[in-house]
Amino acid sequence: MLAKPLTPLLATVVDLIDEAPLVRTIYVALRDFPEPAPGQFNMVYAKGLGEAPISISDVFRKGDRLVIAHTIRSVGAVTKYTTCIGVGSQIGIRGPYGRGWPIEEAKGMDLLIVGGGIGLAPLRPIIRYVEAHRDSFGKLFILYGARTPHDLLFKSELGKYANIPNSITKISIDKPYEGWTGYVGFVTDLINYIDLDPGRTAAYICGPEVMMKVAVRRLINRGLKPDKIFLSLERRMRCGMGVCGTCQFGHYFVCKDGPVFSYGELMKYLWVDGI
Ligand SMILES: Cc1cc2nc3c(=O)[nH]c(=O)nc-3n(C[C@H](O)[C@H](O)[C@H](O)COP(=O)(O)OP(=O)(O)OC[C@H]3O[C@@H](n4cnc5c(N)ncnc54)[C@H](O)[C@@H]3O)c2cc1C
Ligand code: FES
Repeated sequence: MLAKPLTPLLATVVDLIDEAPLVRTIYVALRDFPEPAPGQFNMVYAKGLGEAPISISDVFRKGDRLVIAHTIRSVGAVTKYTTCIGVGSQIGIRGPYGRGWPIEEAKGMDLLIVGGGIGLAPLRPIIRYVEAHRDSFGKLFILYGARTPHDLLFKSELGKYANIPNSITKISIDKPYEGWTGYVGFVTDLINYIDLDPGRTAAYICGPEVMMKVAVRRLINRGLKPDKIFLSLERRMRCGMGVCGTCQFGHYFVCKDGPVFSYGELMKYLWVDGI
């Protein structure tokens, strides 16, 4: 936590990568910033425009600075600004906030990652973590889908996931596309094509809420227990730290109690058709 938790720190943009139409990853460098855990988010501040919660899609150290990546889709004031600025520009960052993906509890288990569209952003740090601590986990399944091949994030990295030992990666696009030879259909369909052992698998899911609900239904039907299925929720936020109540969902504050919840925690409030 920062010394003045509601005051953003000034961060300098050090790199930019165009990922997909209207989606850009911006790398910012900060001094004296706490190291984020996989699945946490920052509040990103654009001067005079406001703040938006944005997941942390990568983090590494460079000298005495922490470099943090945010993969941002341009939808409104803050995200339009932050996807247009150049290297050397400054934005405000406060965080890291929230409860990320469970790590200790998942050790020794198989992990299933299911990402839809920009939902791969908060999942990328947990994929990196598993890769770096490969012996601590069982099989790794990565299922990722986007509308078209152009909408896939981290294109140069996706092909390398197949090299992670004891892992299977499957990628889908929603509709046929010229030149695409991979799977066509929803990413949740891919759940039917993997050899899951429900008793030893934890699933981490992020994407549009409708996609996450379909994934939950499929996984429950495959025998996974609700407390082994984890979802990263998006809600409107202001403080990002459990003070204002804007993000309330049932008796939870998504910013502080989440954004990652087990389906077991959410099932009272998140209605999934067919369960
Ligand atoms: C924990 C968390 C992590 C997030 N991570 C990312 C990320 O990694 N990358 C990214 O691009 N976005 C992410 N978001 C979403 C992002 O914070 C919102 O899109 C944000 O509102 C954009 O701010 P803005 O000022 O650009 O647009 P705004 O002016 O706030 O909104 C633009 C449009 O999006 C709609 N909208 C805004 N927020 C929501 C919402 N929660 N649910 C439904 N509709 C909404 C508004 O109604 C409006 O139509 C995350 C959100 C949360 C809660
Ligand atoms: S955003 Fe203020 S309590 Fe969650």
